[in-house]
Amino acid sequence: MKLSFEKGIFAPLPVLIIGTYNADGTPNAMNAAWGGQVGMSQISVSLAGSHRTTDNIKLNREFTVAYATAEQIAACDYVGVVSGNNIENKLEKCGFTVTKSDKVNAPVIDQLPVTIECRVIDIQEEFNETRVVAEVVGLKADESVLTDGKVDYSKVGLVIYDTAAKCYRKVGESVAAARSVGKKFE
Ligand SMILES: Cc1cc2nc3c(=O)[nH]c(=O)nc-3n(C[C@H](O)[C@H](O)[C@H](O)COP(=O)(O)O)c2cc1C
Repeated sequence: MKLSFEKGIFAPLPVLIIGTYNADGTPNAMNAAWGGQVGMSQISVSLAGSHRTTDNIKLNREFTVAYATAEQIAACDYVGVVSGNNIENKLEKCGFTVTKSDKVNAPVIDQLPVTIECRVIDIQEEFNETRVVAEVVGLKADESVLTDGKVDYSKVGLVIYDTAAKCYRKVGESVAAARSVGKKFE
């Protein structure tokens, strides 16, 4: 029997590390779970208006999104608990170094193997929430996570955010081929 609850909660969520440049050119990053794909080539992230990242995205109109990994989970969590508004050398403190993207005015975190490069299309503000829709204009991936020239997510060590247990969980093995296993019911 299924039980009924008052409030629904979306799960699982991704663990996205948003990289931006501050007004003085120093890098910043934050952890965001409220984000995802919108159509073929766009993404959307939902940010509190008070974050340094939100100001930086409004300023630069460009940012990066790296996927958090199990190996770097403490640093990925750290950028989600302290704000660049209060801590100047936030990235240095958790051991992240960056390389400037050649496609967007935003930092690529060296320690995270896969990063997408994003250009803002639209910013919608409602109460204290800022919804950013952006075009994905590029992707950077470490050679170490490629198989036959393509990103191989089984090598990345991806994590998801479990909104019920409030913990990070490692993404597991493939259970079936998509758009294929279901064909047996055709
Ligand atoms: C697991 C996790 C998920 C988070 N998801 C979001 C989110 O989707 N949107 C948001 O505005 N803040 C989110 N946060 C909070 C920000 O990452 C946090 O407030 C951060 O300090 C903001 O940094 P900044 O001010 O340097 O940009 C999340 C934090 C954690 C730990």
